[in-house]
Amino acid sequence: TVSPITVCVTGAAGQISYSLLSMLAAGSVFGPEQPVTLHLLEIPPALPALAGVVMELLDGAFPLLHSVTQTADPSVAFADADIAVLVGAFPRRAGMERKDLLEKNLPIFERQAHALNEHASKHVKVVVVGNPANTNAMVLAAFAPDIPRANISALTRLDHNRTMAQVAARLDVPVQSVAGVCIWGNHSSTQYPDITRATVDNVPVFDKLGGFEIVARDFIPTIQKRGAAVIKARGFSSALSAARAIANHLRSWVCGDEHIVSMAVPSDGSYGIKEGVFFSFPVRCMGDGVVEIVKGIEIDEFSKRYIDATAEELYAEREEALALLE
Ligand code: NAI
Repeated sequence: TVSPITVCVTGAAGQISYSLLSMLAAGSVFGPEQPVTLHLLEIPPALPALAGVVMELLDGAFPLLHSVTQTADPSVAFADADIAVLVGAFPRRAGMERKDLLEKNLPIFERQAHALNEHASKHVKVVVVGNPANTNAMVLAAFAPDIPRANISALTRLDHNRTMAQVAARLDVPVQSVAGVCIWGNHSSTQYPDITRATVDNVPVFDKLGGFEIVARDFIPTIQKRGAAVIKARGFSSALSAARAIANHLRSWVCGDEHIVSMAVPSDGSYGIKEGVFFSFPVRCMGDGVVEIVKGIEIDEFSKRYIDATAEELYAEREEALALLE
C-alpha cells in the first residue's frame, strides 16, 4: 500500500479551492494509486463555510481521500505537508494600489512562511497562487530559510494554458497539437505570453497568427487581460481554470512533463533577470520536483521589450515589499 501524501490548501473555502479539492481527492493530480490527506486552512470567519466544503468532500465518497483536517491554525495546517497550495490571500478591492495589496498580504505570507518552515515536511513543495503571487512567493522564501528555494514556485500555468488555448482557437486546431509557447515574468497584466516560437504539430505558426504587429495589438493583450474579462463576465475571478492550472502545475512538478511549461521560480540570472525575484520562465520538469529553466533561447528585440517591462515591474514590487518589511 502507498502511504498518503499530505496536501495543505489555504483559502480552502474560496472559489478556486472549491474546484481544486475534488481534483485532488479524485486522484487526477497524483494518480489513481496515491491516497491523499488534505489539510485545509481558512481564516476564522470562513470556518463555517469550510465545514460545508468538508461535508461535501466526505459525501463525494472519494476512495483515495484518506482524511481531512480543517483549521484556522497554520501550524496545524502545515504539519507534515508534502505539498502546500497557497491560495488564500487578501483580495484586491476597488481603489487599492499595488502597495496596499502588498501591505495586506506581506504579514499573511510572513506568518505562513514561519509555520511552513517549522512544521512542514523538509521536502515540502510550495505553489503560491494568491496575488500578487510572484512577490508573495518571494516573501515566503525570505521567511522560510530551511525550505530550499527550488521548492517554492508561483503559478503562471493558467496564463500558459490560456496561451495554448488561444493559439488553438485562432488556428482551429486541437489544443494538444500546440507547443512552444511560454509565459515570461509576473502573473499580472505585464506578463509576456510568448508565441514567437509557437508550433502546431511541430510547424511554426507565428506568421499565421498575424506576425509582430497583430500579435502585439491583439494576441498579447487578450492573454494579459483574460483574467479581467472573466471577472467582467462571471462576476467572480477565474476559479475552474485556475484550479485546473494548479493541478497541471503540481502534476508536472511532481511527476515530470515531456512538454516545456511555464512556472514562476527564483531567478538564477538567466536571460539577464536579476536574482531575488520569482520570475516565470519556460521550464522543463524532470520529475520528482526537479525543474530546469530552459536555457539558450534567442530572445528577439520584440520579446526583449516585453520581458524587460515585466522584469522592471517585479523589481519594483520587490523594492516596495522590502521597504514594507523594514
Ligand atoms: P476567494 O476570495 O474565493 O477565496 C480566497 C479564500 O482565502 C477565502 O475563503 C478567504 O477566507 C481565504 N483567506 C484569506 N486570507 C487567508 C489566510 N490568511 N489564510 C487562509 N485563508 C485565507 O478567492 P479565489 O477566487 O479562490 O482566489 C484566491 C486567490 O488566487 C486570489 O488572490 C486571486 O487573485 C488569486 N488568483 C491567482 C491566479 C494565478 O494564476 N496565480 C489565478 C486566479 C486567482
